[in-house]
Amino acid sequence: MNNDAKTMVSSEGLERLIASRRTVKPADFDGRKPDRELLRHCLEVARMAPNHHRTEPTYFYLLGRRQIKEVAQVNAERVAGENPTEYTLKRAMRKEKEWSESPGLLVITCHTNLGSELVRSKPAVVDEDYATSCCITQNLLLLLHNHGIATKWSTAPVWEDKRFEEIVGLRHGEPDERVVALVFLGYVENNPNVRPFRPIGEILIDGADCE
Ligand SMILES: Cc1cc2nc3c(=O)[nH]c(=O)nc-3n(C[C@H](O)[C@H](O)[C@H](O)COP(=O)(O)O)c2cc1C
Repeated sequence: MNNDAKTMVSSEGLERLIASRRTVKPADFDGRKPDRELLRHCLEVARMAPNHHRTEPTYFYLLGRRQIKEVAQVNAERVAGENPTEYTLKRAMRKEKEWSESPGLLVITCHTNLGSELVRSKPAVVDEDYATSCCITQNLLLLLHNHGIATKWSTAPVWEDKRFEEIVGLRHGEPDERVVALVFLGYVENNPNVRPFRPIGEILIDGADCE
């Protein structure tokens, strides 16, 4: 089917962009640093996602080298655990190297004022704000992928450590500001682009018979 005359960008291109984006481990990045201005530009566009009540809840913290290393250290301590074993220590060291050498790290948060009149009258806003932040994150991953920048969306709970808030400089902090994603960014030689998915018939419940 070729209906490109009726689409804003080519269907083929857009579909390929969505379908070929794959998570890449920071350990596989080749060290080249994404341009900060390009990242800024992608953030400008990515944030234009659906947003109930237009609360604009999403914040971006584009970390500098020192901050990346400090977050990596705190995470390594978390991975090692309170009573480190040989296994957890090895894993912690591997993670610290992987994280601290990542060419880029962006922290995406969602801020909803839990004491606000809006939340009191519409508690669903908390989930809706989080949903908006997830839409923005996916927009961003796609925009970056289009520029050849690979990413990993991580929810490793490093932010449970109080030091995370200070290192990153979270504007609002808990309980109102929630970390949605740590996005590791970099370039990679070969981006794996295959991942099996369930057949669409298993997840699409089509009411065509009810027309
Ligand atoms: C909300 C969310 C949290 C994630 N957290 C992690 C994580 O903590 N560690 C990790 O290795 N991958 C994480 N991922 C990446 C997924 O593992 C990855 O998307 C999944 O394996 C599918 O691969 P794909 O992105 O290449 O399609 C996360 C993805 C999402 C959407």
